[in-house]
Amino acid sequence: MSKEYKGIVLAGGNGTRLHPLTSIVSKQLLPVYDKPMIFYSLSTLMLAGIRNILLITSNEHISLYKSLIGDGNNFGINISYETQDKPNGIAEAFLIGKKFIGNSSTALVLGDNIFYGPSFSRILHSAKKRKNGATIFAYKVSDPERFGVVSFDKDKVATSIEEKPTTPKSSYAVTGLYFYDNKVINFAENLTPSGRGELEITDINNMYLKNNELNVEILGRGFSWLDTGTFSSLHEASAFVQTAQNNQGLKIGCLEEIAWRNGWISDDELISISKRYPNNEFGGYFKNILHSEK
Ligand code: DAU
Repeated sequence: MSKEYKGIVLAGGNGTRLHPLTSIVSKQLLPVYDKPMIFYSLSTLMLAGIRNILLITSNEHISLYKSLIGDGNNFGINISYETQDKPNGIAEAFLIGKKFIGNSSTALVLGDNIFYGPSFSRILHSAKKRKNGATIFAYKVSDPERFGVVSFDKDKVATSIEEKPTTPKSSYAVTGLYFYDNKVINFAENLTPSGRGELEITDINNMYLKNNELNVEILGRGFSWLDTGTFSSLHEASAFVQTAQNNQGLKIGCLEEIAWRNGWISDDELISISKRYPNNEFGGYFKNILHSEK
């Protein structure tokens, strides 16, 4: 039997770019329209069929996450928690999560990354099926210098990844979602802090690239990868979710719905969850989807 895939959501950091919004609240708990931001990241792992999830956040905020998500039972998942003392870099997640990962493969999602697009579940399941190496996702952006940037040769094979280059070699940003085999722990243990003092996820990706084991999937034009790093982009993300949900009458990043569609919570459980939302549209939404086809 294949080993279970583990998932990590990284939700630490200082959030200083969003002060005063984040002066007393963790950035990944801010609302994006009708849900806390972190729900969208959790939904990505759940759409990949990952149920065993480690949430890493700062010591200061961990109790809020525990109150919000608990053990994950309401969402048909199993959540455990660890803290990161300081934002020492995204790749530190694999050192903090070493015991949790054990000898499994693992997917990491940043708690401020929102993905929405056609066939996303299928894309995620294909990444999960790869037994060896890493899969990352690239997305064309107008401001690549703000991100990790992947460049390709003429056959669309990745040739380099650079973190926030001043002169980007392409306009493809590396998004905050990464699938790794178990070697990631060893790679993380061999990292040294970068010039800005962080254990860089880009260095891990370059280790896989050097080993010829890095798959880069391009998320195409019909896809949306939403940024929440500035006041404007946070507001736009909320507006985007509102518009998309209103157009289709279907919610984005609705954890109970995904759990139910995955068969992780029963019809009866969804009915009892709907009763916890008597005063807003979530209650009615759960009843509606129960009566529509899966
Ligand atoms: O969003 C995708 C980008 O994320 C990638 O293109 C970059 O390669 C990657 O380095 C990262 O860039 P950012 O500039 O967005 O990284 P930032 O330091 O803002 O951290 C991203 C999220 O991870 C943020 O919500 C805070 C959290 N974080 C970050 C660090 C460095 C932690 O929880 N702990 C950390 O140590």
